[in-house]
Amino acid sequence: MEGFTPAGLLYLVATFLFILGIKRLSKVRTARSGNQLAAVGMLLAIVVTLVRPEGGIDLDWTTVIAGLLLGGAVGGVMAKRVEMTGMPELVALFNGFGGLASTFVAVTEFWGRFGSATIGSPADAAGDVVLGGGVWAIAIVLSVLIGTVTFTGSLVAMGKLSGKISGNPVILPARHLLTSVLLIGGIAAGVYGTLYCEGNTAVLMVGLLALGAGLFGIISVLPIGGADMPVVVSLLNSYSGLAASMAGFVIGNSLLIVAGALVGAAGLILTTVMCKAMNRSLGNVLVGGFGGDAPAAGGGGADEYTSVKSAGPEESAMILESATSVIIIPGYGMAVAQAQHVVKELGEELERRGCEVRYAIHPVAGRMPGHMNVLLAESDVPYEQLWELERINGDFKTTDVTVIVGANDVVNPEAIENPQSPIAGMPILNAHESGTVLMIKRSLSPGYAGIKNPLFERDNTYMCFGDGKAFLQDVVTELKES
Ligand code: TAP
Repeated sequence: MEGFTPAGLLYLVATFLFILGIKRLSKVRTARSGNQLAAVGMLLAIVVTLVRPEGGIDLDWTTVIAGLLLGGAVGGVMAKRVEMTGMPELVALFNGFGGLASTFVAVTEFWGRFGSATIGSPADAAGDVVLGGGVWAIAIVLSVLIGTVTFTGSLVAMGKLSGKISGNPVILPARHLLTSVLLIGGIAAGVYGTLYCEGNTAVLMVGLLALGAGLFGIISVLPIGGADMPVVVSLLNSYSGLAASMAGFVIGNSLLIVAGALVGAAGLILTTVMCKAMNRSLGNVLVGGFGGDAPAAGGGGADEYTSVKSAGPEESAMILESATSVIIIPGYGMAVAQAQHVVKELGEELERRGCEVRYAIHPVAGRMPGHMNVLLAESDVPYEQLWELERINGDFKTTDVTVIVGANDVVNPEAIENPQSPIAGMPILNAHESGTVLMIKRSLSPGYAGIKNPLFERDNTYMCFGDGKAFLQDVVTELKES
């Protein structure tokens, strides 16, 4: 392991940059520079690892450069091409690759060392830490286990998010028994292979561990509904960090251990924050069965609404004309419609008329943490106008008009009024308390939770049917012409 050698000191600098970067990511205003700092830290880490002033490993530079070019090109093109709505899938895929990389590191290390000797048999382990020993073997097993679970689980999560796999929970018969057998069997094979076997048997055992872990990852994510995929992706992100940390133990690289632990902790904290914002426990999410493509039992179909009022762009513009205070609530539909620019245009037009305009951001609006912040930042909405749920929720009572653009679950009063509701206890934005609600969406379809939203039928609500972007464009045109 690196001590206070030049490489060790540079690793320390990289670690410091990672920590500073993560800290700055916690605020919208400093997030961009936080990302850049962490990227510089990663570049430093890669350069130090490759150049490695201490020496010790023989690098095949052709392979290294080919890997850098190929990985950089694929990552660059994917990041450039991805739509904002496809971001969660991309994150899932990157997490999966992180896990797979850790598996490869552990397997390569294991493979490279077992050839000439009986590895890690208790007799060897007594005098030789490198060739086995308990810690090394545990690190290999955990690295392969967590890395492979992350890889296959992330692929399923990506498939569900992109619609390539049904978002409905897929519950296999006796799945708990099956997952237990795969997990325990895989670990047993891995421990046996790394501690007591040699040659082909050792490789076979580690292969069985990878197979068990891979199937475990798939079978564990399949029963979880599409609605919960962002939580799963965040948890898998945490796993990918743990796998990297274990890979760090396998190859004795202190920076990998620290960086992996940072990702593991950050992912776990984010997972907890998301669960809290939905008032669900992590256990409840992982057991699965919640949310999917089809409306959940309990409703959400258009036929369940009897007294819905609607308003077109012209009427909506008239309602907004006389408003002195407006709160705009963006949701997933704004991302689908790519309506963030016209939303900003509406805000500016209203402000020009002397109206106070604010944006209310729910922590789980959209499909990934910070989804709405990112979109509104893209259209240059000033940060000061973005208000978090706790800060703005008391102000709806005194607000003339709330414009909801493609949000549904995050404004569903069922969460606070019906203890039997699947989303009971989830904090919501109290849009229903404002003078008038303009709810822009294409139909009476439910949101991701698949449940009825009584807000559609409230006396003060007008449903504004249409694509978010097209409808708002018409409203802005009406306002400008009036
Ligand atoms: P949702 O409740 O999912 O509602 C989005 C609404 O957007 C839909 O009802 C849909 O209605 C409408 N829509 C879709 N395309 C549109 C378009 N082109 N123009 C206008 N409207 C459109 O969204 P939300 O309120 O943002 O809530 C997020 C949900 O995701 C919550 O249930 C939350 O728990 C879940 N979730 C989020 C996260 C994170 S981290 N964000 C994590 C886990 C779970 P129409 O089809 O009628 O248009």
